[in-house]
Amino acid sequence: MSTTTDTLTIIRPDDWHLHLRDGAVLDSVVADTARQFARAIIMPNLQPPVTTVALAIAYRDRIYAALKLAGMGEGSFEPLMTLYLTDNTSAADILAAKQSGAVHGVKLYPAGATTNSAAGVTDLLGRCSLALEAMQSAGLPLLVHGEVTDPAIDLFDREAVFIDRVMIPLRRAFPELKVVFEHLTTREGVNYVREAEGPVAATITAHHLLYNRNALFQGGIRPHWYCLPVLKREQHRLALLDAATSGTGRFFLGTDSAPHSKGLKENACGCAGCYTALHAMELYATAFDSVGHLDRLEAFASLNGPAFYGLPVNQGKLVLQRGSYQIPAELPMADSTVVPLAAGESLAWKVVA
Ligand code: DOR
Ligand code: ZN
Repeated sequence: MSTTTDTLTIIRPDDWHLHLRDGAVLDSVVADTARQFARAIIMPNLQPPVTTVALAIAYRDRIYAALKLAGMGEGSFEPLMTLYLTDNTSAADILAAKQSGAVHGVKLYPAGATTNSAAGVTDLLGRCSLALEAMQSAGLPLLVHGEVTDPAIDLFDREAVFIDRVMIPLRRAFPELKVVFEHLTTREGVNYVREAEGPVAATITAHHLLYNRNALFQGGIRPHWYCLPVLKREQHRLALLDAATSGTGRFFLGTDSAPHSKGLKENACGCAGCYTALHAMELYATAFDSVGHLDRLEAFASLNGPAFYGLPVNQGKLVLQRGSYQIPAELPMADSTVVPLAAGESLAWKVVA
């Protein structure tokens, strides 16, 4: 890594949590990620969900076709596929996933927790023990959407309650299971990941590093800041920023970039998800710069993730330059548009190569 006050050169980063969707939306968004990242963990919450190796490989082929359509060669970006865990995922499904070499994790969506989670898990330890046992033996990570769906629990407390009700019992039953606590949003989550014994890590989004829940209500309701897990109080943002910039290997970059059309966001019942693939590294650099820790960005973005997943570090470099970069108002997406997070605002860093 090299830093001057105006230029930052890091090993080419990876995005360890990404939604690319499918069809015409995939065609529209894939280049935004491939321009900045060498690889990404591709979320499986399509309709229908990616529940088998065959579906994952077919989806990977469509991603490669979309890259080609966007004028980017196959070597420019590697999609790391995942399976969507259901109550019916078998040990054989897991074994096949591991043996395929194409699947790098299995995503847990508690049923009803978020976008396309209806087919998710209803009772993790009750229904998925055989799959979890197989994942533990195979060294295939469980990627966790860590929120309870109990309607009696306040929306802002769903992650903290998940730790007590699901994470702790899960890790007691499967102590050697590799677990990634995805899109961590709370101080409780940070403390849990820091202190847990065994192979536990977490991804952190750029939006949870840059914004607290006030952003949702700045002068009116702001649907483009709505995601799940929802933005939290300032104390939680500060805990996340501290974790991401601490140099601790357990925290790494995962954008959770989740494109929804402008019309589905600016809606009486708007979809959850922030589109950050366009300007992901600009957003992360801005967050790290805000606490004077650009020197820790490379570990978070390019080193900690591969170490946890047991993959090689990338060969290429990414160069960011200080300067005013204005985020576009919207971008074409399929037959509609997508509004990038913080559209119209300016950032102090820009990816230049
Ligand atoms: O905000 C979110 N959007 N959170 C999720 O968990 C899913 C994602 C999506 O797929 O839109
Ligand atoms: Zn996600």
